[in-house]
Parts: sequence; structure tokens; C-alpha cells
Amino acid sequence: MSTAADTSVLRLKGVNKRFGGVVAANDVDLDLPPGVVTALVGPNGAGKTTLFNLITGNLKPDSGLIELRGHSLADVDPRGAARRGIARSFQDLRLFEQMTVFENVLSVMERSALPWQPGGHAAARARREKADATLELVGLTAWRDARAIDLGYAEQKFLSLARILVTDATLWLLDEPASGLDPASYERFVRLVRGRLAHGITICLIEHNLDIVHGISDRIAFLDQGTVLAAGEPRAILNDPKLAAIYFGERR
Ligand SMILES: Nc1ncnc2c1ncn2[C@@H]1O[C@H](COP(=O)(O)OP(=O)(O)OP(=O)(O)O)[C@@H](O)[C@H]1O
Ligand SMILES: [Mg+2]
Repeated sequence: MSTAADTSVLRLKGVNKRFGGVVAANDVDLDLPPGVVTALVGPNGAGKTTLFNLITGNLKPDSGLIELRGHSLADVDPRGAARRGIARSFQDLRLFEQMTVFENVLSVMERSALPWQPGGHAAARARREKADATLELVGLTAWRDARAIDLGYAEQKFLSLARILVTDATLWLLDEPASGLDPASYERFVRLVRGRLAHGITICLIEHNLDIVHGISDRIAFLDQGTVLAAGEPRAILNDPKLAAIYFGERR
């Protein structure tokens, strides 16, 4: 009999992480099923970004198991996680501000061969074509040669997304990718992200705006003080008055 855990793209089991007296991950079990958007929801400091850092090897868990398609990520550093097809975006975007939009996309692409190696020229041309196609997909072609720092807020968010799209990663971890987007940009963002699911992508994203969560996610995991309090269908989680009280700060 197959279970959710058997088919999960990513599986966390009994994951713990403390920072001094702060419990950032408390015996966390989390499964990301393939081809769906899972939203991590919870108040500030709940441990959402910490989970991303544990998955990508930016942090090591104190204990517990983290597996990508059945293979442990225990000894994997951030570069290794990227090589295994995990891409992430950051709350603070971390673009190369002085580089152009095009260069920002190019900079995250793996080089299969250097220009002076066999096939190097063709590979470089293919990379540039792919970078341009990705900019087209996210609607940034007109900004191709602008410096990242000169972009508006929404364009910077789409550039951050382009840097993930172009990597061919199959697991995306997006830290507040839609926060602060105007409604039109947000609609475009949702269409873009959900459109990638048909290409075999699995997505976990962090989002504070519950309307956005409702509009974009198939599943929600609700975190508070490092603990997963509930996981399941968005409607069930969002309608739970106990979780709402925690989320909106009515905890006693
Ligand atoms: N590198 C670190 N060193 C020490 N404490 C940390 C570190 N990273 C996170 N913390 C603490 O762990 C807890 C969880 O932080 P985390 O950033 O994961 O929360 P979050 O759910 O992403 O919050 P937010 O919604 O504000 O982004 C917080 O109390 C935070 O201060
Ligand atoms: Mg965070």
C-alpha cells in the first residue's frame, strides 16, 4: 500500500532545531506531495524560514530526518541542494543589485562547459537563449538590460522568480514571493506559478496574506512556535477558529 510519505517529494520527520532557548522547529513532520503548492502559514517567528534553511542545508537540524525523494539531505550544503533540484527564493530577494536583469538570470545557471572547452560556445549561446526565454515568460523582456536596483518592487519579485525558473529545479521553496504585489501583478504571479505545476514542479511557499494563501495553495501546513499544529486542505485550516486566534495574535 502506498502512503503520502512514500510518494512525497520532500519528507521531514521529527525535525528539531533550537537557537539557544528558542525552539524554531519542534518535532516537525511535513510531507510535500508532488505537483502541488503547499503553503507554510503561521505568525512571525513561527519557524517557517528556518524550515527552508534546514531543507537547503543553510542550517543543520539538531535531530530528525529530511529526505528528498527518499534520499537523505543530511550531508547536503546549499550548493548540493541546488544540484539536487531544490531552488529557493529569499524574503529579502538577494538579487545582484548592480547587475542587469539578464545577468542576474544568467548568474544562477550552471555552466556545462567553459567557452574554450569543446561545445563551450554553443552551450553559452544556449544559456543566453534560455535566459531570454525565461525573461519573456515572467514579462521582464523590456527590463532585460536595466540594473536590478532600478526595477520596481513587483519587477524585482518576478526577477527573483525568473532566477528559480531558469534553473530547472523541480522543488521550489519560495519565501513570501507574493508579499506586497499589487492585484494585477499578483494575478500574473499565481498564473505563472500554478502553470509550472504541469511541468513536474512541486512548490512550498511561505505567505502571510491569507487571501493569497487561499488563492494559490492546494495544502496548508500551519506552524506556531516551531510546531506544525495542523496540515491539510486550505479551507479546513483557514476556517479553524483556534488557528485563526493564534494567527491573529489572540493567544492567551
Ligand atoms: N540564525 C538564527 N539564529 C538565532 N535565532 C534564529 C535564527 N534564525 C531564526 N531564529 C529564530 O527562530 C525563530 C523562527 O524564525 P524564522 O525566521 O524561522 O520565523 P518565520 O516563521 O520565518 O518568521 P517571519 O514570518 O517573521 O519571517 C525566531 O524566534 C527567530 O528569531
Ligand atoms: Mg520568515
